[in-house]
Amino acid sequence: MRIAITGAKGQLGSILQARLAANDLLPLDLPELDVTDALQVRRAFDAFRPEAVIHAAALTNVDQCESQPELTYRVNALGTQNVALACRRCDAAMLYISTGYVFDGRKGAPYFEYDAPAPQGIYARSKLGGEWATQAFLQRFYVVRIDRLFAPGGRNFVETVLRLAHERGSLSMATDEVGSPTYAPDLAEAVARLLPTEVYGIYHLTNAGVCSRYEWAREILRLAGLAHVPVTPTQDYARPAPVPKQLELANLCGAQLGVALRPWQEALADYFGERGA
Ligand SMILES: NC(=O)c1ccc[n+]([C@@H]2O[C@H](COP(=O)([O-])OP(=O)(O)OC[C@H]3O[C@@H](n4cnc5c(N)ncnc54)[C@H](OP(=O)(O)O)[C@@H]3O)[C@@H](O)[C@H]2O)c1
Repeated sequence: MRIAITGAKGQLGSILQARLAANDLLPLDLPELDVTDALQVRRAFDAFRPEAVIHAAALTNVDQCESQPELTYRVNALGTQNVALACRRCDAAMLYISTGYVFDGRKGAPYFEYDAPAPQGIYARSKLGGEWATQAFLQRFYVVRIDRLFAPGGRNFVETVLRLAHERGSLSMATDEVGSPTYAPDLAEAVARLLPTEVYGIYHLTNAGVCSRYEWAREILRLAGLAHVPVTPTQDYARPAPVPKQLELANLCGAQLGVALRPWQEALADYFGERGA
């Protein structure tokens, strides 16, 4: 299959490239390709003629996005529109990586793919804008919502916890921010299985199970042999961006196809197998 990948140098993009290496790939990222430039995106796709495009490029620093709404909308929403329009022109299917942050986390139960989004911050709104554009301009699309991505070699929560544990010798972690880790190699495997199905639509693909930041940090420290490092449970952690406090993404549509990710604890153990403790 001829597949273009945007955000190819990012956490997920790098893992996608490795998993899909048997295909004819076009990895795209800054500075060669800026998704905010509609003509540049169009030219890249016109030349390569992809059968599918995985759009993972985005501004992903949720707190920074809060202070730069115009740039965030330009990259995450308009950039996705540019990718969708270029896909339409060359008749490529598109797989858009979105986020569970399109929900506000106040449901009190797992979110299904068909629940109404209610994004809270700029990042979340911009990613929902990307979903709208994908659905407005294409019939052959997958919207894949994920949460708390972590990948070997990436800058992620696991590495932050380990760095803080070494630098400070103790940590404070929120017990009231609950979500699901998503291990990039597991997600890449799910994407590889989803792409050829042609069962288009919205998908929720995270590792199974939920945890608070506190629980996740404790498990990270245990696997790293740092269980002795004290972690103080906190609540109402102040940050620039409003984020959903209780987020569980129910995988109704993927499970129907046998596309589901294993429990997050197993994935985290594999992460440590990969990086070493
Ligand atoms: N990370 C998470 O926890 C998480 C959670 C939910 C959903 N997601 C979604 O998952 C996807 C992948 O996330 P990730 O963690 O792999 O992100 P990442 O590591 O930040 O990678 C994103 C890539 O996109 C590139 N990019 C930024 N602006 C661009 C532009 N204008 N044109 C072309 N490329 C551009 C970035 O380049 P620079 O580094 O040079 O800016 C980077 O290489 C994103 O769509 C994100 O919204 C992530």
